[in-house]
Amino acid sequence: MGAVLFCSNLDDPEEWRPPMTRLMPDLELRVYPDFGKAEDIDVAMVWRPPAEGLGQFKSLKAILSLGAGVDQLDLTKLPPGVPVARLVDDVLTTAMAEYCLLAALRYHRRLDVYERNSRLKKWEYHIPRPASQRTVGVLGIGVLGGATAAKLKANGFKVCGWSRSPKSIAGVECFSGTDGIYKMAAKSEIVICLLPLTSETRGILDKKLFDAMPQGSYLVNVGRGGHLNEDDLLPALDSGRLGGATLDVFQKEPLPQEHRFWNHPQILITPHVASTGGAETAAPQVVENIRRARAGKPLLNQVDRTKGY
Ligand code: NAP
Ligand code: GLV
Repeated sequence: MGAVLFCSNLDDPEEWRPPMTRLMPDLELRVYPDFGKAEDIDVAMVWRPPAEGLGQFKSLKAILSLGAGVDQLDLTKLPPGVPVARLVDDVLTTAMAEYCLLAALRYHRRLDVYERNSRLKKWEYHIPRPASQRTVGVLGIGVLGGATAAKLKANGFKVCGWSRSPKSIAGVECFSGTDGIYKMAAKSEIVICLLPLTSETRGILDKKLFDAMPQGSYLVNVGRGGHLNEDDLLPALDSGRLGGATLDVFQKEPLPQEHRFWNHPQILITPHVASTGGAETAAPQVVENIRRARAGKPLLNQVDRTKGY
């Protein structure tokens, strides 16, 4: 029986150990850097791999991301041929849809403006519009984007979505392909990014996209910091092309104290908290993937290493 390596600077292994051990009583969970003999390790649970990589673990049969995303693993640097899986967790999915609904409603009901006006003691009326007259565009309509689109729809918004492959989702106007993103942006007063970060999506939130959106639209980035072209955002906000941005993810986290985003009145910053998974709810799929890896079976939520997500 092999041992499972746990390596994360963000996650607490002692939160994972009890729910995993309940499901796999003979589990041997070893926490980096005290992993004993490298050849014992046959599965790695990681947020980021150790700085020296995972190459020393010659018996590795699976790499299990402790997040929904896998860009932080740098798939190109992982041992070739070892399958990689990511987390798909109901708690995480529900929390993400909730965060995105909150961000959309805040702009829809102009709370961003009232927050600023209340500091200025300014009594200024903005006539509310029904949500049915507001379109929200979701970039990436996979697990998280799909749940977010459904929640927005259930709350009365018109919803569009953009994906790599063409999709058909009841009540959601779906776009795909390189021109699809701009067609979707042209309709969307609020754009939410829920894409994985890959070579194709890096920097996709840029001037070209902002120019395609209706004047004064809003951006919500909950994908990854690398999706946003930071230099394009500030001129878009300062010129009024964009009305505001809610950013949960950044190129460098924690966002450095001196970063220009902190002081911008139209940027709301949250510290990568849009959604997190729960060890209790995610443990069953992790344990199932350990069993599958040891039995040589395909993993649940296996990542396509060539596509990068
Ligand atoms: P997912 O199920 O794999 O969905 C990804 C979606 O993006 C799919 O619809 C996919 O299209 C689309 N996509 C990928 N590459 C594309 C491209 N080049 N052009 C157009 N569409 C593209 O992933 P998920 O579970 O929803 O997670 C999405 C991301 O959310 C994660 O990768 C992570 O970065 C981020 N995240 C953030 C937080 C946070 O707290 N801020 C928490 C969890 C996750 P297809 O459907 O055609 O494949
Ligand atoms: C968090 O950002 C995740 O990928 O789960």
